[in-house]
Amino acid sequence: MRFPRFDMERMQSQWEHKVTYDLSESGVEALTLAEITRDPKELMKTKLGYAEGVGREATRALIAGIHPGHEADDVMITTGTSEANFLALASLVTAGDEVVVIMPNYMQVHGLATALGARVREVWLREERAWTIDLDALAAAVNPGTRAICVCQPNNPTGQVLSQAEVQSIVRIADQHGAWIVADEVYRGAERSAEESPSFSGRGERILVTGGLSKVYGLPGLRVGWIVGPRERIEAALEIKDYTTIAPATLSEALTEIALERRKQLLERARFLINERWPLLEDWAAGHSRVLHWTPPAAGAICFFSYQYPIDSMPLVDRLIREYSTMIVPGIQFRAERHLRIGFGMPSRVLHSGLAAIDRLLTTID
Ligand SMILES: Cc1ncc(COP(=O)(O)O)c(C=O)c1O
Repeated sequence: MRFPRFDMERMQSQWEHKVTYDLSESGVEALTLAEITRDPKELMKTKLGYAEGVGREATRALIAGIHPGHEADDVMITTGTSEANFLALASLVTAGDEVVVIMPNYMQVHGLATALGARVREVWLREERAWTIDLDALAAAVNPGTRAICVCQPNNPTGQVLSQAEVQSIVRIADQHGAWIVADEVYRGAERSAEESPSFSGRGERILVTGGLSKVYGLPGLRVGWIVGPRERIEAALEIKDYTTIAPATLSEALTEIALERRKQLLERARFLINERWPLLEDWAAGHSRVLHWTPPAAGAICFFSYQYPIDSMPLVDRLIREYSTMIVPGIQFRAERHLRIGFGMPSRVLHSGLAAIDRLLTTID
């Protein structure tokens, strides 16, 4: 397998602990162990042996509970949503398949499909229609050779959400050709309104939903994710997991149960932070409305801007990192040049200072 370089993750890994203002993050401010643990003494009793490969039944039942039409046996715990996506695609796709990726998208799925020897067809959300899906273009791209359609709901990087009707239409298009859907729902629950985005789960026999604790729950350091889907696909994914991480991290799994039991509260926290901080970014953007264009995000702590400055996104972000110790994501890392993804889930003082740093850079370009 030859993996294309995952440029965004490489950049973030290289710089996130070095820059002063990291506005490249897409989740909400992380919780501390003290904030998530009810009784640290309980945790001290955790035996640090190997966990069950598929994950504890009680944890899986909690995850099944947030995926309509599923039960514990349809769930496996993974090391982050990244491993979930990896196992989902690696267990489905073989060389010569076609994979349709709804773009823009978290580029892991695009790179993985390529590494697995698939031919990737991109179907782009329509920016001029507020980043909505072009169902005709999707229907034209999917064919009997399509093994999987990869979709991110809510979408990274645009923060847009597919409606019930759109989700249903995507399922129908996939069904017509026997294609699978791999739906990355890691941002589900981070909607600005109280209404949770429609999930793909429970809508058909060839659907794998991935997700995890990294974004909405504010627990990326636990590295916990999951796959929800038909049992035989969970079995197939487990056979590959024997080659990747074998089993979930025991301590993380213990904390996952606590987080999922407090799901309502953690989702309210995420929603509160997103609603508190979005106006800060929006006000800043309004001051640049001559050169920046955006559709306000419906979910997630990210906004995807197009811009009219005479500089490409990578050199822009490179200068921002090196000269102003501030990181955002260049659109080119989503194959969308002259775009920028700016996160707003970090503490307000970081957001304020990071935006001020962007301003300082922009005055040298404008
Ligand atoms: C859509 C999407 N899926 C998966 C991931 C990776 O998630 P995790 O940290 O749970 O592995 C990210 C991280 O940015 C993401 O945006």
